[in-house]
Amino acid sequence: MSPNVASDRFDRPLKDLRVSVTDRCNFRCVYCMPKEVFNKNYTFLPKAELLSFEEIERVVRAGADLGVTKIRLTGGEPLIRRDLEVLISQIRAVPGITDLSMTTNASLLTRNRARSLRDAGLQRLNVSLDAMDDDTFKAVNDVDVTVQTVLDGIDHAAQANFESVKINMVVKKGLNDHSILPMARFFHGTGHILRFIEFMDVGNSNAWDLSHVTTSQEIADLINANLPIRPAKANYRGEVAKRWEYCDGGGEIGIISSVSDPFCGDCSRARLSATGSIYTCLFASSGYDMRPALRSGDVNAVREALNRLWSIRGDRYSETRTQVSIIRPKVEMSFIGG
Ligand code: GTP
Ligand code: 5AD
Ligand code: SF4
Ligand code: SF4
Repeated sequence: MSPNVASDRFDRPLKDLRVSVTDRCNFRCVYCMPKEVFNKNYTFLPKAELLSFEEIERVVRAGADLGVTKIRLTGGEPLIRRDLEVLISQIRAVPGITDLSMTTNASLLTRNRARSLRDAGLQRLNVSLDAMDDDTFKAVNDVDVTVQTVLDGIDHAAQANFESVKINMVVKKGLNDHSILPMARFFHGTGHILRFIEFMDVGNSNAWDLSHVTTSQEIADLINANLPIRPAKANYRGEVAKRWEYCDGGGEIGIISSVSDPFCGDCSRARLSATGSIYTCLFASSGYDMRPALRSGDVNAVREALNRLWSIRGDRYSETRTQVSIIRPKVEMSFIGG
């Protein structure tokens, strides 16, 4: 069917769907799933509550009818979900979906797994890595995973010929900001795009404080003083990361500044939780339950619900966060996948 493009209250189209396939993760990053909260007393979703691959595919089809072209698989850690390759080939077969990617911590990305994901049709990978030395990295992931484990995963991805492998580094001041330059130096010239992400106030568990944010300006200045960079043009409208290129031809980096320079104006992203709720903003308190529409088995019902939801969307949290005086509960990052 021809796309009936969805548009929200600020005329923003719906183009990306981020699909969380599990709320579980084998890491306990202190800025995302701190052990004080995500311990043996925490109740993760029971398997029976997770959407089936067929249900996820139905939401993707409905999204594609409304203009979605990009799908990103997230978690928690998406590689924990079994048989992900099956879902990947199902999504790849949906007309209109031209970009299928995944965000992962790469700790489970063996050579064979990387190849089977690529063979199933996954096009791009974004890998989280927050430091180059084990002491700092273990202080971040809090489960003793080494830097080399993740670097091996990145190598496996590169050997499997993904269209791109980007590296995501969340910068939390006082925790890993001393790793900005070592990370830049390591990935300079490798062809992998390193993106620095400002520590965000997502969820309710990570004790976020503005004093822990190293701003995009500070990051750019630090890198520029050591490895000169110049701004590069965005690849497309609404790109999350601001692009910079090394003046010496060593490739590019990206900086994601949700706190100091928000990008809500062009935000075209919806998020689907592992339980079938659509969130129209990363900072939303609640989602819209798609399961009643999904249970009917009819893509039309899902498309209508999604279109209706998008048409009343007015989210722009990052642009208004300083004006929001009432503290309200927010969805956890590990639940909605970033
Ligand atoms: P590309 O398609 O490769 O550009 O991926 P991406 O940057 O959109 O996705 P990724 O999962 O790698 O996200 C990188 C960082 O950007 C994470 O910290 C996300 O939480 C953050 N991010 C992505 N989309 C949004 C958004 O809509 N709003 C905010 N505030 N942050 C976002
Ligand atoms: N602030 C910024 N980025 C975060 N991520 C997880 N928690 C936060 C946070 N509080 C990142 C992960 C991953 C992406 C999906 O989101 O490191 O790269
Ligand atoms: Fe897991 Fe990613 Fe959250 Fe770390 S940031 S705990 S790897 S979901
Ligand atoms: Fe989009 Fe919400 Fe992020 Fe703004 S804060 S860019 S509206 S997801």
